[in-house]
Amino acid sequence: MSLLSTLLRGRPDGLRARLFGRRRSAAPAAEAPPPEAQEKALGLSKQAPKDVTPPDGFEVVLHKDALADGQIIEVIIGGTAIAVARVGTTHYAVANTCPHAGGPLGDGKLDGTVVSCPYHGWKFDIADGRCVTQPSVSVRTYRVQIVGDAVCVEL
Ligand code: FES
Repeated sequence: MSLLSTLLRGRPDGLRARLFGRRRSAAPAAEAPPPEAQEKALGLSKQAPKDVTPPDGFEVVLHKDALADGQIIEVIIGGTAIAVARVGTTHYAVANTCPHAGGPLGDGKLDGTVVSCPYHGWKFDIADGRCVTQPSVSVRTYRVQIVGDAVCVEL
């Protein structure tokens, strides 16, 4: 699979492939799949609460107990792919796309607050977005708030 194809369609075993199966065409989804579909595709045991009103500019992305400590996943919110992680009791959100060559950081390996890109191993601190491997590079971070049982991310 070419890099362009991966960027447009996602990885063969990634979240978008699990959500859309083989019915997907060459074009990426115009709309983000509903949170329930993503939670099911990811095998998350906890559903995002539906009775939470997120702060202005924020979206509810997950239940606060959906991720295990040290877990990072890709979530698509409002058509934007972000990587959401839990370290201890703190949740973090960063852009899912690695600035090196588009690797999916949500599929990376997390060590503390440092995620390793699954493609070539560049490391990023998800607390501030800084690239540990290439200090001139960074990934976008998103503000996260816990409201009730919901992890809310500012887009
Ligand atoms: S794509 Fe992430 S390190 Fe190359």
